[in-house]
Amino acid sequence: MPRRTCDSSGGRAAAGTPAAGIRRPARDRRRAAAQLDPRIAAERLLADAPTLARHVPGAAAAAPAAPALPPDGSLLMSADRRRAYLVHRQVGAGREAAIVAVALQGGDPFPGYEEEVGTAVMRFPFGGAAVAERERRLLARPHPGLVRLLAAEPGPPPALVLEQLAPHPLARFGRVDPATALSGFVNLLELVQGVHDELGVILCSIEPGNLMLRMPPDLEDAGYLGRLASGAWEPALIDVGAALGPAELGEGGQPPLVAGDPLYLPPEAMPRFGKPGRYSRKTDTYALGLTLYEHLTGDRPYGRTDLFARAGVDYVAELLALKEKGTSPINGLLLHERFEADVAEDLLDLLRAALAPDPAQRRTPGELLDQCRATLRLVERRPLVPTARYLYDGDLGLHIQQRRVPPSQDLAADYA
Ligand SMILES: Nc1ncnc2c1ncn2[C@@H]1O[C@H](COP(=O)(O)OP(=O)(O)O)[C@@H](O)[C@H]1O
Ligand SMILES: [Mg+2]
Repeated sequence: MPRRTCDSSGGRAAAGTPAAGIRRPARDRRRAAAQLDPRIAAERLLADAPTLARHVPGAAAAAPAAPALPPDGSLLMSADRRRAYLVHRQVGAGREAAIVAVALQGGDPFPGYEEEVGTAVMRFPFGGAAVAERERRLLARPHPGLVRLLAAEPGPPPALVLEQLAPHPLARFGRVDPATALSGFVNLLELVQGVHDELGVILCSIEPGNLMLRMPPDLEDAGYLGRLASGAWEPALIDVGAALGPAELGEGGQPPLVAGDPLYLPPEAMPRFGKPGRYSRKTDTYALGLTLYEHLTGDRPYGRTDLFARAGVDYVAELLALKEKGTSPINGLLLHERFEADVAEDLLDLLRAALAPDPAQRRTPGELLDQCRATLRLVERRPLVPTARYLYDGDLGLHIQQRRVPPSQDLAADYA
């Protein structure tokens, strides 16, 4: 149903609007109609931001053609001829890039590693050299919260060589045990705060599908679950091409109409009237909150609504309307079904602080971490290593663990 949106004039004709009886130009009429009708706004948005279609169920994405990938078993030489990549197999056929696992042969250890790196992935962005260069620049300053860039190969086709990470339990088993979900969340809060402070970027692409674990990548279930239980893993974010830095957010900068998957964007970051929304550290808080909610409940954001029964323009229109109304994306009953009442209430308080529709009410990642300290019984599992001295050895493991929801005694049975 068409819905009226609120504007700051409170419905009265603002100064400068044409007096009754005077016909407005067609462009103005179209713009006014788009303000009133989320479906028209959705059509315009899909036309103005073609990459948005990648995040919209049932939308025909006008993605650039995928590059021709090197066949399995082929050997590629690095541009500096210091090492070779033995192509193993494709591990990801994502929305923005194809990801291929490779074995590294020869070459010195990469900076930030104590020993030679044996395996890696090559990320071939569909957008070609310009997209690869943008991602290279974003990852050029390493941060333990982000996948580590090992090398950039000019190609053709251009590729980023990245540390190989292990799948998140949600990807591996289709669900997450709550202790892992919460320990991952608190460490992510700290890591994302570091990304904001040290790299000066807002990530805009945090979502469950872009979260992986730093630990040896090819473990059997027993080894993988043993590491989950003991905290010998760390969360690491991939797919950072949507991140916004001073060039986009500073004076005179122009952020894109939609950065990342709009399902995970807070209301104020949604585009309005053909203009980009507002991005801040709290953009990432919101996405972290939704990621935690999915991990704790298995429910998707807005799972109570019929959003996911829609496709294409209808999906975008409904999403715009839900965000505009500030509809809560979460269902508190699901938390009460899964946790004791006092734990469920504290978790809901955390989610409310992360997901407040008004950014003034929403916490930054650092503030949310303080709230977690007060409610989740956080303990340091290891001393904090400053980013500059961090070694990518896969064995460092979580900095902080939470003790409020104890880890299961038998994770193997939980995930069976
Ligand atoms: N560093 C990595 N190590 C291991 N697998 C990866 C890595 N990066 C990506 N992948 C795999 O490729 C998939 C898609 O990667 P992603 O970077 O999110 O691409 P997209 O832009 O298409 O979403 C991931 O879900 C994961 O399975
Ligand atoms: Mg992704």
